[in-house]
Amino acid sequence: MKLANNKILITGGGSGIGLGLTERFIRENNTVIICGRREATLKEVADKFPSVITKVCDLSIEADRIELYNWITENHSDLNVLINNAGIQNWMSVTDNDFYKKANEEITTNVLAPLHLTTLFTNLKSLDTIINVTSGLAFIPLSKVAVYCATKAFMRSFTLSLRHMLKSTNIEVIEMIPPALNTDLGGKGIHDGQPSVSDFVESVFEQMKEGKTELTFGTSEARAKENNETITEYFNKMNP
Ligand SMILES: NC(=O)c1ccc[n+]([C@@H]2O[C@H](COP(=O)([O-])OP(=O)(O)OC[C@H]3O[C@@H](n4cnc5c(N)ncnc54)[C@H](OP(=O)(O)O)[C@@H]3O)[C@@H](O)[C@H]2O)c1
Repeated sequence: MKLANNKILITGGGSGIGLGLTERFIRENNTVIICGRREATLKEVADKFPSVITKVCDLSIEADRIELYNWITENHSDLNVLINNAGIQNWMSVTDNDFYKKANEEITTNVLAPLHLTTLFTNLKSLDTIINVTSGLAFIPLSKVAVYCATKAFMRSFTLSLRHMLKSTNIEVIEMIPPALNTDLGGKGIHDGQPSVSDFVESVFEQMKEGKTELTFGTSEARAKENNETITEYFNKMNP
């Protein structure tokens, strides 16, 4: 994708990786729209970066996704990049009482929402890029976040097919595959000590400049290349 002069919607752009991408894309002279549930978080970003456009929405609610799309068509019909970044991660066991409820929330936010946004936004005439944020955990699951990993494996699989389905259009499909990074995903403190978002963002920008469509970093580079034997080996290491 070209890295300047885009109008980009970054879901979950108010924190973590989404915020890192927001800052970096602004530096490259792009217009960035961010959305999320927390109005105060979005406002903080807009106070720091006055060019950022914000929209409060809960992507786990179907009506909010439709409302977001309609708002974009009315106010930003020249949007050309959709970044499906918003996600949640639940640490839980299948024996927990609220396992099914939490799994449902996770599948809705991490899978149904980006699927729905993808089918809505491909109607935009100006759309030329979709970036899906998956995870190194799409390749080898960590059983403490079993449903999360499965949602990312779903999105990894869907992204491969999406790229193929859209190959005769002008829409490029990019997969961003972060390893564990220092954000609040899953709760404060869980990802402390992991590599920084800014290092990840610098690396994926370099890869996008080279025209790559599968963007890895650190351990996710190796995870994306594992074969069945090494997958089992790493699964056993990760899940003692
Ligand atoms: N950090 C990692 O180690 C890591 C590794 C691999 C992949 N990823 C992926 O990277 C993406 C970003 O995660 P992050 O690490 O940056 O964590 P984060 O800081 O918690 O960011 C998640 C963002 O998604 C938004 N969001 C969550 N649920 C939403 C909903 N229902 N509606 C609208 N927005 C919603 C949140 O905003 P609100 O709370 O305000 O709604 C937040 O801004 C996720 O897809 C995650 O799976 C992260």
